[in-house]
Amino acid sequence: MINKRFPAEGSPRESVLAQLVNQRDADPTWYGPRLFIGGSYYGGDDVLRVANDASRLYQNHNALYAAKRFPALVSLEKNIIGACLELFNGPDSAGGNLTSGGTESLLLAVMTARDWAADQRPVPGIPEIVVPEAAHPGFDKAAHLMGLKAHRLQQSTDYRADPAQLAAAVGDNTIMVVASAPSYPFGVTDPVKDIARLARDRKLWCHVDACHGGFVLPFARQLGRTIPDFDFAVDGVTSISVDIHKLGYANKGVSALLLQDAALERHQRYSFDDWPAGLYSTAGLSGSRSAGGTASAWAVMHYLGVTGYREVVAEILSARDRLIDGIESIAGLHVLGEPDAYLVAVASDQVDILAVDDFMAERGWTGGQLKRPPAIHLFLDRSNAISIDAYLRDLADAANRVRAGDRAGPRAAQVYTR
Ligand SMILES: Cc1ncc(COP(=O)(O)O)c(C=O)c1O
Repeated sequence: MINKRFPAEGSPRESVLAQLVNQRDADPTWYGPRLFIGGSYYGGDDVLRVANDASRLYQNHNALYAAKRFPALVSLEKNIIGACLELFNGPDSAGGNLTSGGTESLLLAVMTARDWAADQRPVPGIPEIVVPEAAHPGFDKAAHLMGLKAHRLQQSTDYRADPAQLAAAVGDNTIMVVASAPSYPFGVTDPVKDIARLARDRKLWCHVDACHGGFVLPFARQLGRTIPDFDFAVDGVTSISVDIHKLGYANKGVSALLLQDAALERHQRYSFDDWPAGLYSTAGLSGSRSAGGTASAWAVMHYLGVTGYREVVAEILSARDRLIDGIESIAGLHVLGEPDAYLVAVASDQVDILAVDDFMAERGWTGGQLKRPPAIHLFLDRSNAISIDAYLRDLADAANRVRAGDRAGPRAAQVYTR
């Protein structure tokens, strides 16, 4: 039950802040060598300092009023969008807007596709979107909110969306297909070329969710890694979501929805002009939001530059490779699919992998879990690079103990968010 209590008197600043520090420290920290959980991402102490300092400079600016009051803030926003468009091979026609996070970018993509379809290619019934098995639930949430039907596929091929299944799911009412670059559960990029071709042939909106991969895949490719095509260079891709507050290392509250053709923004923007206070017009779903995230995104992008991101990505990918090689050398364990970025799912045909994870938790390792198929779900950021060898040692030992019939408890709940 919630304790209903409003502070009757004010308290000194020091005491208020000390209480807050105590509260914060009662929770686990958000990053560290033994945490493989994502959610917040550590790019190094220097990067964190730049992000936090920049964020503080704009913390109290309301991004909602940027176009009306803060032209310099608008130019920061445009800089960020422009940089993302270069990263994703945006054509001259391309455009985009910042949003508060990946979920907002997905919601907006679906809403924009809905209104585009209503204008350009109306369907006979309730419009549908076709969503591969591993795509983020934000698409289902969007369909729920926008009065659409999400046709969620139940299987993948090698943990990638199967274009044949997608094609079979497309019907008269389909307006949109979705691909992930990469997906959250398996860290594997969908065959965007095939999915975009299907979209082009059937005149569908094709959204690529690069919320996780956006600030990893382009740099990985520059480093000589084989990365499947996933961006605007692929004919038929209509929009891309990218979270700068994930592996872009900006503070929370900044993602982008990029459009292959900026003119499509007219289906995204909501305007209402019959109000005593005048015109209300926004391209996003949220109203007021701090410009702190925007400032941190701009600052980190300028602090690291392409070369800096490349170095960070190189470090994380080399840690990931060591992790994957180590897992594959433990009898009975294997990695699901071929991860393209920094997400790795570990499964087993021989031992109860979640029981293995229980032992890992007992030793202070925190990862996530998948329920279909059962797997340990690991996110890597820069803080994990130093702990791969120790993790692998404990993993091998935990697998042996489970094979020998030992069990640790209690079992963690398989929850993505609650
Ligand atoms: C692939 C993918 N897309 C979108 C999102 C939503 O991002 P956010 O949590 O910033 O709303 C997530 C979150 O993990 C994700 O994994």
